[in-house]
Amino acid sequence: MRSSMPGVMAVAAVVLAALTPGGSFSGPDLPPGPNVTTDYDGRWLLARATWYGQPTGAGPDDNGGACGIKDVNLPPYNAMSSCGNVPLFKDGKGCGSCYEIKCRAAAECSGEPVVVVITDMNYGHVSPYYFDLSGTAFGSMAKPGLNDQLRHRGIIDLDFRRVPCKYPGGQNIVFHVEEGSNPFYLAVLVKFVAVDGNIVQADLKEKASPEWEPMNHSWGTIWRTDTVKARRGPFSLRLTSESGKVLVATDVIPENWQPNTVYNSNIQFSISTPCRAAA
Ligand SMILES: *[C@@H]1O[C@H](CO)[C@@H](O)[C@H](O)[C@H]1NC(C)=O
Ligand SMILES: *[C@@H]1O[C@H](CO)[C@@H](O)[C@H](O)[C@H]1NC(C)=O
Repeated sequence: MRSSMPGVMAVAAVVLAALTPGGSFSGPDLPPGPNVTTDYDGRWLLARATWYGQPTGAGPDDNGGACGIKDVNLPPYNAMSSCGNVPLFKDGKGCGSCYEIKCRAAAECSGEPVVVVITDMNYGHVSPYYFDLSGTAFGSMAKPGLNDQLRHRGIIDLDFRRVPCKYPGGQNIVFHVEEGSNPFYLAVLVKFVAVDGNIVQADLKEKASPEWEPMNHSWGTIWRTDTVKARRGPFSLRLTSESGKVLVATDVIPENWQPNTVYNSNIQFSISTPCRAAA
């Protein structure tokens, strides 16, 4: 999350005026577009993009963001990260979704698409779809050697489309039990989700219990449960991605779990993951 950047927005106003005749957007304060879904129809949509943080950084100075994911400067994100507005960030449920973006018009644009992951939010109203990109991601849309010149534009139009997220190298889904978790409050961050990239429902099962219990969306890509009765691990987690694909990570969080700890799973979504797996 970040506050507005007066410098960039001043540049933005000038560039906006210059772009308006050729663009489809007019006013400076536009309502968000419809939520982007998982139909992967290949159609390009129009958005506006700015960038924030260091010119060759990952966005936030702490390499985090409103999704709760840390180290977005490191693999597999490699700083190819972005804030999304409402139809992209979806109050956090859009976290982890992937978009191909390519800039248009600007003489510095290569026209080649690059992929970014939603890891942060910016609900600014500069256009119905708005990407506030890391400096790295913004610059990566330029022709070779023109990254800085492209960044100097401050705000540009781009074409974008939702694409399935790919995590090569056999990367499975990773869970992070958040700081402050205890037997009465368990908060779990979910990351490296392939295909849809985002999780719209998480359910939890204690090993000793036959029942799945819905977790509540906390913020970003973090899901939580609060109970009056102490929970006992191991815990299995059942994830539903935006298109309705379901996977179970059985006993992924062990009995002796600790807060602020990473638990690797052995599950990952693929294009062929069914929408209703037997739990
Ligand atoms: C769009 O996403 C937001 C955030 O998840 C949600 O509250 C809203 O209902 C969605 N809108 C539609 C039309 O699905
Ligand atoms: C989810 O939130 C609701 C409303 O605050 C609460 O009643 C319910 O117990 C929560 N569920 C879990 C599993 O924490």
